[in-house]
Amino acid sequence: MAQQVRAVVARGKGSPVSLETIIVPDPGPGEALVRIQACGVCHTDLHYREGGINDDFPFLLGHEAAGVVESVGEGVTDVAPGDFVILNWRAVCGQCRACRRGRPWYCFDTHNAEQKMTLLDGTELSPALGIGAFAEKTLVHAGQCTKVDPAVSPAVAGLLGCGVMAGIGAAINTGNVGRGDSVAVIGCGGVGNAAIVGARLAGAATIIAVDIDDRKLETAQRMGATHTVNSQATDPVEAIRGLTGGNGADVVIEAVGRPETYRQAFYARDLAGTVVLVGVPTPEMKLELPLLDVFGRGGSLKSSWYGDCLPSRDFPMLVDLHLQGRLDLGAFVTETIALDEVEKAFDRMRNGDVLRSVVVF
Ligand SMILES: NC(=O)c1ccc[n+]([C@@H]2O[C@H](COP(=O)([O-])OP(=O)(O)OC[C@H]3O[C@@H](n4cnc5c(N)ncnc54)[C@H](O)[C@@H]3O)[C@@H](O)[C@H]2O)c1
Ligand SMILES: [Zn+2]
Ligand SMILES: [Zn+2]
Repeated sequence: MAQQVRAVVARGKGSPVSLETIIVPDPGPGEALVRIQACGVCHTDLHYREGGINDDFPFLLGHEAAGVVESVGEGVTDVAPGDFVILNWRAVCGQCRACRRGRPWYCFDTHNAEQKMTLLDGTELSPALGIGAFAEKTLVHAGQCTKVDPAVSPAVAGLLGCGVMAGIGAAINTGNVGRGDSVAVIGCGGVGNAAIVGARLAGAATIIAVDIDDRKLETAQRMGATHTVNSQATDPVEAIRGLTGGNGADVVIEAVGRPETYRQAFYARDLAGTVVLVGVPTPEMKLELPLLDVFGRGGSLKSSWYGDCLPSRDFPMLVDLHLQGRLDLGAFVTETIALDEVEKAFDRMRNGDVLRSVVVF
């Protein structure tokens, strides 16, 4: 029997989100119904609400979540009712050209639930990143459920489902940060600070945090940054070069998603270094660079989709590191809020007051 639950819906471009009753179908073949315990508020949810991703309103927002599997559809064998899971937006297909070439973290044909969740009048909802977890229960593809050690608190586990994984993975998986490297991170929100944590886990010797907000830089220092640069007061390219023997950093991670910060990243890296773009730009943004500089500076310019993570490999490993006290995921949770406070959390995000607000159910 389909169920009615409360959920946060974005009905139109730029309008405040509303708390609505939605209809969640029973899981069909390959699907799972998950009772959500916690879901973080990511900047990408705000991008959806502002029409920056696409126009498929109404959206069911929320995608950084952990919860318990309530029921599964036909043919599901990997997860069972009662399992504690983190939801992922990379349920790899195993069949596409990326998967066949042994690079499933790029999977081009990831699975989502086939059935649609709807408003009471039958209007189909578009779940953010195929998840939609600002809801008491959500319907996903079973492959989107990654089992982890249930000893972890849901509020911190959920963050691995998007932003924190994206940041840690941008450093470790995409940027290939290694022992002794110098790393700069531009933009120290939830994603940028996770990149700092990832660089530290990987053994980086110098970690330079860049932001325009001193509060974010203080947090970055607690997370492991060895140096901080306020780029409103100081030219960040000069500052990063100055802190790296005049050369630039081995890896620069851009976690804002704007042309001017990308340009800073491009010029703040050493010759043959790596730029990782993990911030998400909007459709009207353009980048102009001298092609001779692109050639002459060498190295690689990479984008990081979801930290190039493989949920089944990375989520349990990071949860284990957290439970061993080697990865402080709790430091990312600025506040826990109720389901009807998501709009307020967006305001606080815009003001730079939070790393993560997390809805707990
Ligand atoms: N690639 C992925 O898979 C992925 C996953 C999750 C989020 N994201 C994206 O990552 C970006 C960051 O997300 P978040 O949740 O950390 O957002 P956030 O709003 O918490 O953080 C953004 C930070 O950038 C800083 N900033 C803004 N303008 C700046 C500038 N000109 N120079 C330096 N710093 C500046 C802000 O002060 C803030 O600290 C967003 O674009 C989001 O959509 C990407
Ligand atoms: Zn695939
Ligand atoms: Zn996200």
